[in-house]
Amino acid sequence: VLASGSHFAPSNIALCKYWGKRDAALNLPINPSLSVSLGHLGTQTQLTPIDAAADEVWLNGVPQAPSSQFSTRLLRLLERLRFPEEPKLRIDTHNSIPTAAGLASSASGFAALARALNESFQLQLSDARLSVLARLGSGSACRSIFHGFVEWQMGQRSDGLDSHAIPWPHTWPQLCIGLLKVDASVKAVDSRSGMQRTLETAHLYQSWPAQAAADLQALRQAIAEQDFALLGARAEHNALSMHATMIASWPPLLYWQPDSLQAMQKVWQLRQQGLPLFFTMDAGPNLKLLFEAQNRQQVEAAFPDLEILQPFVDEI
Ligand code: DP6
Repeated sequence: VLASGSHFAPSNIALCKYWGKRDAALNLPINPSLSVSLGHLGTQTQLTPIDAAADEVWLNGVPQAPSSQFSTRLLRLLERLRFPEEPKLRIDTHNSIPTAAGLASSASGFAALARALNESFQLQLSDARLSVLARLGSGSACRSIFHGFVEWQMGQRSDGLDSHAIPWPHTWPQLCIGLLKVDASVKAVDSRSGMQRTLETAHLYQSWPAQAAADLQALRQAIAEQDFALLGARAEHNALSMHATMIASWPPLLYWQPDSLQAMQKVWQLRQQGLPLFFTMDAGPNLKLLFEAQNRQQVEAAFPDLEILQPFVDEI
């Protein structure tokens, strides 16, 4: 192990969601997905060899208990790669995601860790292989290896080597994503258990893979033609369809809070008044608003607390 530099990976927001695994140990998905990476918002990770009996995990400058969920998941990925005689490591993770944004950091966290491990263990992995490695930590992390629009090709193989992300060449400088945190207090069921419950109990889930595949095709067209109305409509429909499968699970999985619903209704009202504004949502109560730069002022006036990003302008 070499002393290593610091590695960054961006957060990502899915426009076509990953929901459901065909292999839970390897995080192999049932459907392909598509996301947009968030430029400079993400995770910076550094690995340092230490002379100690156990690995250390630090998050934003604070040491984490080895038994915490965060440490356990990180160390599990590390153990996949390390030979027993190699020294213990200190893993320093810093999130540049503002806590107010209500974004999960596991995708960027595992992607940054994959990059750091690649350097520390001198693996010289291609980006596709880095994406496979990040995927083992958290499925959506395979998309955070790349900037811009990123597709996760689900693959067919049982070893998962063909299940990784690829970047799309398109850019869309006008595209804005607004992070709207509506409720921080709720401890939700995490994606892993949520997907499992949906798969096991929701009959509605049967229609999900075909819809996701169709949505991905439509989003491909929307992005190639810079058709914002098509992009927004497909992304919102895809997210709500995923939430429909969650709600149809038993016990029911409803991630929405009253404020989430209020925000959705506000988006629909503004859209009816002619503002091209859409949203997407993940396994939590927060909304991610989708709009174009020319409408930024109107959107900001309606949602004063919004954290606005232009992923293709902010990109570093
Ligand atoms: C709803 O990647 O967090 O955000 O593979 O179990 O770690 P694991 O799940 P995770 O799931 C993300 C689900 C989602 C949709 C998406 O990002 O595509």
